Amino acid sequence: MSVMRTKPIEDVIAQGGDEDAPGRLRRRLGPLDLMGFGIGIVIGTGIFTLTGIEARDHAGPAVIVAFALAGVASLLAALCYAELASSVPTAGSAYTYAYATMGEIIAWIIGWDLVLEFALGAAVVARGWSGYLAELLGLPTAFFGESSTVNVGAIAIVLLLGAVATLGIRQSSRVTNVLVVVKVAICLFVVVAGLFFVRAANLTPFVPPAEPVRDDAAGLTRPLSQVLFGMEPSAFGVAGVLTAAAVVFFAYTGFEAVANLGEETRRPHRDLPLGLFGTLGVSALLYVAVSFVIVGMVDYREIDPGAPIAAAFSSVGAGWASALISIAAVAGLTSVILVDIVAIGRIGFAMSRDGLLPAAVGAVHPRWGTPFRTTAAVTVGVAALAGFVPLSSLANLVSIGTLFAFVIVSVAVPILRRTRPQLRRPFRVPLSPVIPILAALACLYLMTNLSVETWLRFLAWMGLGLLIYLVYGRRRNRLARRDRAGAAG
Ligand code: ALA
Repeated sequence: MSVMRTKPIEDVIAQGGDEDAPGRLRRRLGPLDLMGFGIGIVIGTGIFTLTGIEARDHAGPAVIVAFALAGVASLLAALCYAELASSVPTAGSAYTYAYATMGEIIAWIIGWDLVLEFALGAAVVARGWSGYLAELLGLPTAFFGESSTVNVGAIAIVLLLGAVATLGIRQSSRVTNVLVVVKVAICLFVVVAGLFFVRAANLTPFVPPAEPVRDDAAGLTRPLSQVLFGMEPSAFGVAGVLTAAAVVFFAYTGFEAVANLGEETRRPHRDLPLGLFGTLGVSALLYVAVSFVIVGMVDYREIDPGAPIAAAFSSVGAGWASALISIAAVAGLTSVILVDIVAIGRIGFAMSRDGLLPAAVGAVHPRWGTPFRTTAAVTVGVAALAGFVPLSSLANLVSIGTLFAFVIVSVAVPILRRTRPQLRRPFRVPLSPVIPILAALACLYLMTNLSVETWLRFLAWMGLGLLIYLVYGRRRNRLARRDRAGAAG
């Protein structure tokens, strides 16, 4: 069946090969650049907002455990990414791995899913960015807040960063690295300064006993698992911690964008695993530490859901810290948007190279060395989305899209081990297939802990993607044309 055809691995490797060939991306990045991009996209709104909401509504002080659990699920997936990225470095990452192992239709679905993750992620974060900037500089919320009709701040930042992403991978890397240093330094400061105000009393009960949820948390906002298994809607307790883990997983989304830089990395076989694990290690440590400090400083029942870190410092008389935290948030969010745009440019590039999108879309600029048309088109699309659509409720859609990609990547590892046992694998997932299966199950489990409404929106998005594939991609792509030419010849 044509929709199940796979792309030969040799094609994938050859396409990423010689950087001097026309239409190729430039190899400019080393391991620290990759970590910069990784941390740049990972640490953003999640840690600054979800910590408060999830501690107050679902997990209490055990939000620390929720961050650790989401980190473990991410690590399992990162092991799988590392094996595939080091063996088959490609700009398409999960999309291309799926094309080489599971067939074209799954590849398309994943490509479409990654658009959801990175484009929607950029737009959601751009609106958050605008709000933080307004708070920091006292700007009018009519143009910068969530209630604005046209969010001028969000549009401006997306266009600016889109221009950086278009101009070159080195430029994007330099800007990202500066922003990463600012946000990591401020996060470290929060941890060190906050430790002085941690009180053991705030950490008990560590896992508050389960209690029935308020009415407004019922219905479509309930986790799918509670609805499927007919569980009474409840908050806190062990189930609450697991729900919180699924929600705070958002904070880890994006690390796999490192794998999209496979064709721009000088030594991809060695450096992609380093970039993936370095990113995840730094982010997980910071998340666990920051969440520990927040729930240690303030009773979880009194946490400010909007600005938990700033409010925690104000509550101990250190209100000056809030400006610092807003700076970290603005810097953090800026790099998230930039790396989102960079990553999606690479996915569009890979899909158009395969003919699943029109070829002209993926052209590489002769001087800048970037897929400039995809990047520019994505920038305009994201700017429009961020400028006109109130999106804050859609963050969970980014998480479900990411988790789905992780499931596919995890399953791709044992498939490729079976179909291509001889492939050179500079990094190998230990205990395969056990770890890949665990990775897939952990991600599926987190998915079922997301709300019913998130699932419905996700299914609607995927349905739309399938329709586009059936109408356009199925017949127009490179393998389909090759098959037809072969049949005719
Ligand atoms: N992981 C990114 C964040 O937390 C998207 O904002």
